[in-house]
Amino acid sequence: MNIGRYENSNVDFMEFNTVGSGGKAYIIDWGFGGIMPYSLDIARFLADTFEFLDYPNNMYQGSLTTEKRSDTHYEVEFRDVSFKYPGSDNYALKNVNLKFTVGEKLAVVGMNGSGKTTFIKLLCRLYDPTEGTILLNGIDIKKYRYDEYMNIFSIVFQDFKLFAMPLGENVATSSDYDRDEVTRCLEKAGFADRLKRLPKGLDTFLYKKLDKEGVEVSGGEAQKIALARALYKDAPFVILDEPTAALDPVAEAEIYSKFNDIVGDKTAVYISHRLSSCKFCDEIAVFHEGGVIQKGTHEQLLADTTGKYYELWNAQAQYYNDDVKEVC
Ligand SMILES: Nc1ncnc2c1ncn2[C@@H]1O[C@H](COP(=O)(O)OP(=O)(O)OP(=O)(O)O)[C@@H](O)[C@H]1O
Ligand SMILES: [Mg+2]
Repeated sequence: MNIGRYENSNVDFMEFNTVGSGGKAYIIDWGFGGIMPYSLDIARFLADTFEFLDYPNNMYQGSLTTEKRSDTHYEVEFRDVSFKYPGSDNYALKNVNLKFTVGEKLAVVGMNGSGKTTFIKLLCRLYDPTEGTILLNGIDIKKYRYDEYMNIFSIVFQDFKLFAMPLGENVATSSDYDRDEVTRCLEKAGFADRLKRLPKGLDTFLYKKLDKEGVEVSGGEAQKIALARALYKDAPFVILDEPTAALDPVAEAEIYSKFNDIVGDKTAVYISHRLSSCKFCDEIAVFHEGGVIQKGTHEQLLADTTGKYYELWNAQAQYYNDDVKEVC
């Protein structure tokens, strides 16, 4: 028997040689009163997960409340915001000024590395600005309680992750959830057919890490589940960073055609490389080299034939003419 501690963690384990098979079994002491037997893979996976969850949050914590307001009136303003990632000498965002109000659909477009995702990361306080201020209803977002502030956003990040847990729990991010509502959100996200084919429905494990009968999902299916998760949270702001990048054209068309229905009267910030998919938004912000260089409706931006939007639009125009036209 071996007793030890996982490197860089506070998780203890006891290792046994299993009789007959020549394999090993592990018993982990999680330090909260329970010990559980696991295989090596699962033990390592769980140790990593718990270690991650123990990471301290060093963000400035304010004390103001941001309860979900019944009048759903929210206004967000970036006021001269600049940002450098920790350890980087270059600005990822430079002097960004942008304002949007609840109910609006804001599209954020721009080339790779222009700062779109960074803008979202700052909005939801994964980082704080190096310079400038982000305001919610006129108050610096740092002054709000961090956990409550996070509650007003439903976000699907470009690099979202699903868990090796049952599908329903993945959508609800909880083991205690409303099954009808989770099903409705999966349907809205275009996952209805696949759901019907899953052996245990919402109780089907994703991946085989914790259940050898778990199912593997494709990139597009994973994206639909992530979208359903954002819808289930039912927050006043829905933020989608490239929400359809992995979807096939049919699924993409389906999401676009139902987008207003999916998002309803919530504020939506919608990041996409595909300009044709942003036409339905009230306002489009064009990012370039860390700044917002243009803002307006699709028609207004296209009228400026010297602008970046016009250039990007024309670079993609061949695709719109071919297959996307009927979607928008
Ligand atoms: N974690 C990081 N550390 C350091 N620099 C980063 C980090 N993430 C992004 N950057 C840099 O910040 C700039 C903006 O990146 P960002 O991810 O916001 O671009 P983007 O517009 O979302 O691009 P894409 O269209 O490829 O998703 C880039 O120059 C990028 O290299
Ligand atoms: Mg990005």
